[in-house]
Amino acid sequence: MTHVTADIIFRTIFSEPMTGPDAHRVFDAFSRYQTQVPRLMLPSLFGQRWLRWPWDAWRSRRAAREIRGLLETLIRPRYAAHRGGCPSTRQDILASFLDARDPESGIPFSFEALVDQVSMLFLAGHETSASALTWATHLLAQAPDVQTRMQAEVSTLLGTRAPELGDMKELTLTRNVFRETLRLFPPVGFMARQTTSACPMRKKTVPAGATVVVAPWLIHRHRDLVEVKTHLNGEWPADDVIARADTILIYADGYSFHPAVQKERLSLLAKEMKRGCGFVTLHWATEVLKDKGGAEFLEWMGGYCEPFWSVNPHWQADFTQLPVHPIANGVSPFTTHDEWYFHMRFKDGMKSVAPILSAIPPISLKLPDGMRSGNAHVRQEVADRLPQHVSWATERADGGRGFGFTGGHNHKNWGNDDQPYWMEAQKNAPRLLATPLSSEWDDVQCQWLRQIVGAISAPFFAAST
Ligand code: HEM
Repeated sequence: MTHVTADIIFRTIFSEPMTGPDAHRVFDAFSRYQTQVPRLMLPSLFGQRWLRWPWDAWRSRRAAREIRGLLETLIRPRYAAHRGGCPSTRQDILASFLDARDPESGIPFSFEALVDQVSMLFLAGHETSASALTWATHLLAQAPDVQTRMQAEVSTLLGTRAPELGDMKELTLTRNVFRETLRLFPPVGFMARQTTSACPMRKKTVPAGATVVVAPWLIHRHRDLVEVKTHLNGEWPADDVIARADTILIYADGYSFHPAVQKERLSLLAKEMKRGCGFVTLHWATEVLKDKGGAEFLEWMGGYCEPFWSVNPHWQADFTQLPVHPIANGVSPFTTHDEWYFHMRFKDGMKSVAPILSAIPPISLKLPDGMRSGNAHVRQEVADRLPQHVSWATERADGGRGFGFTGGHNHKNWGNDDQPYWMEAQKNAPRLLATPLSSEWDDVQCQWLRQIVGAISAPFFAAST
């Protein structure tokens, strides 16, 4: 992969494929240089420069000198021609560098400075891309369904023609795959800076000359860095807030009172779903009328609570087994008493729907048929002791994810530290937008919701973090 991306950056800089012997020597020398860098950097990073082997330093300097020498050989003829009055006819990065002038002094790059720039671009431009592409293929290998959908997306848009820059915005799934790869495995794992003077940082003083490290790998997993906007007591968020949300979570009244089915909101939300926005509903908010929101919720969430089909008794759910799914990572079996609605209306054959919490209701449904009391079908399932799914997740063709959870009548369950589900699902970091019931909605509960919908907002992969 490194060779592929080195070839691409080489063509971008020089308009030449990386096939010549010089090009290969540049590549080999860069590989040697790259091997030495961590050996030299790590001891420095921990303030232990004495741990650096002189041999490593010598080898890296030798590789650097070799790279410079080779790049000079490649650049010199074009530099000489350009400065001699023959502007480059090629449209590549080197041509741009040769034409570039300092905006204030009007001075062009010196030969030395030009070699510096090209060396830096070559290094910055191929290792990173190779790493990102390698991890992307690794993740795709673990998600064959995503592979198939990505292939379909690309061939539907492009057919047999080559891609252009403008195509990128149409390739939603492909872009999301790449973004998620960058989140999970950032090619630049940490960025180091050295302080030029002492400066305060939080409650400490960082001395001059200290190394400060920013680690994207950690930041991309840090739940506190997730922006959470809550909208309480029925307040519907402004359109621009919704348009920026990665996930929209609704915890509110359902049925015809559901905030999502008021006014033109279903079509507003449909627009957001199309761009791959996550959609989560909790408890009563899982319920909408079959002919007003039913079709949309089925599409966005894979299932919903349907009046005259689903039921809403209170019962003790014993979740004895958790599925292999990122939402259930680290979650142990648990038992909770709640108003667990069940017998949801799911997509036919549970297509793309993954049950997350399932239990056999230890009850009998004795009430007559009704909107939420029961019907022949659900009574039969309960009598047959069929597990009922009270929480589920789906991945949509538009690239978004949906998640439904029918518990949550007993608000105190949200803050129950004994429930491993609440505690352990805190793996990824979602952006969520909630319309909760009351202002009791506080940090504890938001923390929990961050946990639960983490895997929903992460653009694609089921990879465990
Ligand atoms: C997936 C691909 C890439 C990733 C993840 C990536 C990531 C980064 C990061 C994190 C930095 C900042 C490093 C720091 O400040 O310490 C950076 C800098 C830079 N990148 Fe990239 N990059 C990628 C591709 C490219 C490509 C293809 C090029 C050139 C064609 C390029 C050129 C540069 C340059 C010129 C810098 C500035 C270096 C400097 O300030 O010394 N990058 N990149």
